[in-house]
Amino acid sequence: MLKNILKFKNSIVKRNLSNIDYAFEIQRLKKLKKAVILAHVYQSSDIQDLADFVGDSLDLSRKAADTNAKTIVFCGVKFMAEVAKILSPNKQVLLPDVDAGCTLEQSCQPEEFKKFRNKHKNHIAITYINCSAEIKALSDIVVTSSNAKDIIQQIPKSKPIIFAPDKHLGAYLNKITNRNMLLWDGTCIVHIQFSERELISLKAENPDALFIAHPECPEAILKHADHIGSTSSLIKFVSESKKKEFIIGTEPNVMHQMKKRNPEKRFIEVPGADGNCSCNRCPYMALNTMEKIYLALKNSKPDINLNDNLIKEAKKPLKLMLKMTNN
Ligand code: 13P
Ligand code: SF4
Repeated sequence: MLKNILKFKNSIVKRNLSNIDYAFEIQRLKKLKKAVILAHVYQSSDIQDLADFVGDSLDLSRKAADTNAKTIVFCGVKFMAEVAKILSPNKQVLLPDVDAGCTLEQSCQPEEFKKFRNKHKNHIAITYINCSAEIKALSDIVVTSSNAKDIIQQIPKSKPIIFAPDKHLGAYLNKITNRNMLLWDGTCIVHIQFSERELISLKAENPDALFIAHPECPEAILKHADHIGSTSSLIKFVSESKKKEFIIGTEPNVMHQMKKRNPEKRFIEVPGADGNCSCNRCPYMALNTMEKIYLALKNSKPDINLNDNLIKEAKKPLKLMLKMTNN
């Protein structure tokens, strides 16, 4: 159902635009509008190759905070574009498709989160960056999968913590930091799809391959991993490893950067539960297309608008995250 709606949306935009050289027009409009294009590694390869900067959630927030450009075209999902706006409120932030959401963000609504916080008043609230600006404004510290472990380790052991919205990332962090954070019940639609059965047969078919995974995967998948980390950590790992074959337990578009940096290595994607579905692709990231980037630059919309108070409150835990990040 979701896939059909997304396909329909993309087909509407395609009408009448097929003769345009999008890559050329995007570069022309980018110069004209003094824009910078930031892309997450889950974007399609054509978008990654077009971008001025490609990275994980933490890299992209730092870039958004530092850029001198007047306009940021954010090729990622809405919570990422919101972070860019919060950290650079005077810049225009364009998101090619406003419906580029995230199941983690949707799982955590402000009224419910307020109740959760009120029930555990002595806890500090650490939230994963995959949440709305409203949830950030209700949080003490934001983290990404790159810096979560380091930040949690800076909190005294005596201080209880609530962690939202990803329960699998939270459980993994509890294990590696030896904490007992209370977890919100959210999951990522992509990372819960991987099939343990398929993974075990892939490992048997490729005995020399290392399995690497994003910590949004459930424990049943993570327990098979040779390395667990954020998207940038996974990319770094394959470049530094002497091994030649890797089974990839995250959104497969990440393999574009892995292949570019390591053309001699082989990468294998883990399928979803029925063995051949494309449910390991993030349907929200896939909403951004070259056509929509072109249209966003041409029309200067859709753009991210957040009220001043929300920006002020959501900026505090984000700034604290940047301050507490060690590298
Ligand atoms: P990274 O911060 O590791 O890039 O993860 C973002 C994300 O949405 C994972 O699903
Ligand atoms: Fe959200 Fe999962 Fe897509 Fe990342 S991959 S943006 S966590 S739905």
